[in-house]
Amino acid sequence: MQLVFATNNLNKLKEVQSMLPKHIELLSLKDIGCNEDIPEAQPTIVGNAIQKAEYLKNHYGYDCFADDTGLEVSALNGDPGVYSARYAGPQRNAEDNTNKLLTALKNKPNRKAQFKTVIALHLNGKLHSFTGICKGSITTEKHGEGGFGYDPVFKAEGYDKTFAEISLEEKNKIGHRGKAVAQLIDFLKN
Ligand code: IMP
Repeated sequence: MQLVFATNNLNKLKEVQSMLPKHIELLSLKDIGCNEDIPEAQPTIVGNAIQKAEYLKNHYGYDCFADDTGLEVSALNGDPGVYSARYAGPQRNAEDNTNKLLTALKNKPNRKAQFKTVIALHLNGKLHSFTGICKGSITTEKHGEGGFGYDPVFKAEGYDKTFAEISLEEKNKIGHRGKAVAQLIDFLKN
């Protein structure tokens, strides 16, 4: 069975492929000739994941799955949330985004936050969704060189290091995306 993963990130693709049963062949956007930007204009993370999966099914006909992730900060009423990539503007710059977040939280005692990933799966005419959440807090300064996005300012619950200071293996085990992918894989295996 062929299944499209709405990504061109070959690392993500390989990682998920290696966890799937052999009869499922993952295809990237490039593999199916999809070069356009897939619309993600919904006001929620789950809405965006579903919009991307439906767009692919409707335009390319493949069974597929798409993911969308956001960082939800309690003291900011869940912001930046669905706008995490472009929090500081359309340039989608991680440095600008983390700086804006640290400024917004300056002197705020409540540092609670969570990463949320939703994966929407279009399979045999039905839509399914899987949510992975990683609870934690926002630091007052950046720490670490690894990871990407908001990783240097996010500490998972029970950890005294940021996501930018732990290994990718460890992040995948406790992280939002890893948890959502694990649910998807469980579903596809059964
Ligand atoms: P996307 O839906 O995976 O493209 O994620 C949207 C935005 O959320 C990214 O541009 C990043 O700013 C942020 N983000 C997503 N996943 C992570 C993560 O694992 N660590 C840090 N930031 C992330």
